[in-house]
Amino acid sequence: MNFDLSFYKGRKVFVTGHTGFKGSWLCKMLANAGAIVTGYSLDPPTNPSLFEIAGIEQDVHSVIGDIRDYPALKAAFDNAQPEIVLHLAAQPIVRDSYKDPAYTYETNVMGTVNILECVRSSCVRSFLNVTTDKVYLNKEWAWGYRENEELDGYDPYSNSKSCSELVTHSYKNSFFADGHVAISTARAGNVIGGGDFANDRIIPDCIRAAMKHEDIIVRNPFSTRPYQHVLEPLYAYLMIAATQYEDGKYAGYYNVGPDDVDCFQTGALVDLFVSKWGDGMKWVNRYDGGPHEANFLKLDCSKLKATFGWKPHWNLDTAIEMVVEWSKCWADGGDVRACMDREIEAFLKDGE
Ligand SMILES: NC(=O)c1ccc[n+]([C@@H]2O[C@H](COP(=O)([O-])OP(=O)(O)OC[C@H]3O[C@@H](n4cnc5c(N)ncnc54)[C@H](O)[C@@H]3O)[C@@H](O)[C@H]2O)c1
Repeated sequence: MNFDLSFYKGRKVFVTGHTGFKGSWLCKMLANAGAIVTGYSLDPPTNPSLFEIAGIEQDVHSVIGDIRDYPALKAAFDNAQPEIVLHLAAQPIVRDSYKDPAYTYETNVMGTVNILECVRSSCVRSFLNVTTDKVYLNKEWAWGYRENEELDGYDPYSNSKSCSELVTHSYKNSFFADGHVAISTARAGNVIGGGDFANDRIIPDCIRAAMKHEDIIVRNPFSTRPYQHVLEPLYAYLMIAATQYEDGKYAGYYNVGPDDVDCFQTGALVDLFVSKWGDGMKWVNRYDGGPHEANFLKLDCSKLKATFGWKPHWNLDTAIEMVVEWSKCWADGGDVRACMDREIEAFLKDGE
């Protein structure tokens, strides 16, 4: 499969969730490739935020609005006249979904309905919905979930993303069956990367502890997650969206995850972080009896590999190195945009 980011040069792309962690990296990749990007989302979900630190507003036409507000979304969408839509806006935190399930469902399910309504009456040719590995009914299997497995996430976040998948499938069957818009979903695992400041995520917890010279508290050291660098799924999203734009037969539902060797237990991931950060850091195991979270999650990504000839560019060791490089650059008041450009360039080169 021949794909490179130059496909995006001069293309109009609409990104929801552009102020978030993944959205900010995605906009940087798209802008570097010469795309004309409009972003629609609420203000950055964290303070500090990658969006502000990296000045992503320079790279996109940024519209601040709620995905639940259909008229506002539609106005921004019609103004942008996009050919390609990447839908990332969501309430993405499991613990927050226990605190406010209704808001999580409104945003993650009706938000998907609203963006698909916009697509329905437009000239869009390619739509990608970003969901998660948590959409599957978790059977605590030792082997990876495949795309045809049952969708039934446990907690409100995961379940709302299962619903978002189902909404996408229904719209695809009901309104886009003639193929005039290529529709896909991508189910990615946990990502790590510079500039993630979310609560309740392990690498941001590590960085916060490192900055305060404190021990890292690990709530769930024995849970296994398919960790990968944020650029991995973003590249896969851009590859799927571009390829299906050219040929609708590539539209589908795809898992995006690391190779088996990079499915680490959280404790081992933190060990790796500590070894790269240095400074005598250590971590402590402190299970806090929080709400149910799946213990074992692994994706089978053979469909993505077979269809696109895709493979991860970086292993977890390199991914952590990049996180540490970004975080130290930011902490030392360095040029974060240049650091991101370097990491994106190295990532693309390592995939050649
Ligand atoms: N970070 C991960 O490990 C991970 C893993 C799998 C899937 N995902 C998915 O990737 C996407 C982006 O995740 P992220 O980690 O960047 O999260 P994030 O919290 O950093 O960003 C979420 C984005 O959605 C926007 N948003 C939230 N509620 C909104 C609303 N009501 N209206 C408009 N915009 C709203 C926020 O403003 C922000 O731009 C999400 O769909 C998430 O489910 C993330």
